Amino acid sequence: MSVILFIIIAYLIGAIPCGIVLTRLFGKEDIRQAGSGNIGATNVYRVAGRGLGIATLIGDALKGVLPTLFAAQATSFSPAQIALIAAATFLGHLYPVYLGFKGGKGVATALGIFLVLSPKAVLVAFAVFALVLWKWRYISLGSISAAAAIPWLVLLFEGSVWFFGAALFIAAMVIVRHRANIERLRNGSENKFNF
Ligand code: G3P
Repeated sequence: MSVILFIIIAYLIGAIPCGIVLTRLFGKEDIRQAGSGNIGATNVYRVAGRGLGIATLIGDALKGVLPTLFAAQATSFSPAQIALIAAATFLGHLYPVYLGFKGGKGVATALGIFLVLSPKAVLVAFAVFALVLWKWRYISLGSISAAAAIPWLVLLFEGSVWFFGAALFIAAMVIVRHRANIERLRNGSENKFNF
């Protein structure tokens, strides 16, 4: 399969808004009009409950896993091409064609991508996330901290400049997409996570 076609398919898979699909399927309110307004697992959890939140997390992560895994295992794509496919999947979640290009923050989809590109990096980044969440109870702060760590962990464990480049791009985008959260963290109005 040509790499361009694969990039387009990866984008279209990444663009599937699992949170919107699941909450509509179960007759819940529009998550874009409630809570943080984000379409991701945290807001689904907050607005529609634990079950749908976890299902959204799995769905959005799977979107990251599938194209990246297929590119890495079932084809002869180079590391640069795999990195591009991973980035296209991620951008699908951020700018989904099905939602007028207004998507999410990309944390779960990035998790899926890095589970394929560097499971060891995910393990350490998850520890960072869990530690921050345990100490401060902000999912957003945990996500931002894990995002800041992941490029360096990918470089350390994989030694691939292409995967590092993809990780740097994805991490920067995740942090930029959290700008409203950063503002709320600064003025003390960010939602604490309620277990
Ligand atoms: O993955 C997104 C999370 O870090 C923050 O979500 O809904 O609190 O903005 P939210």
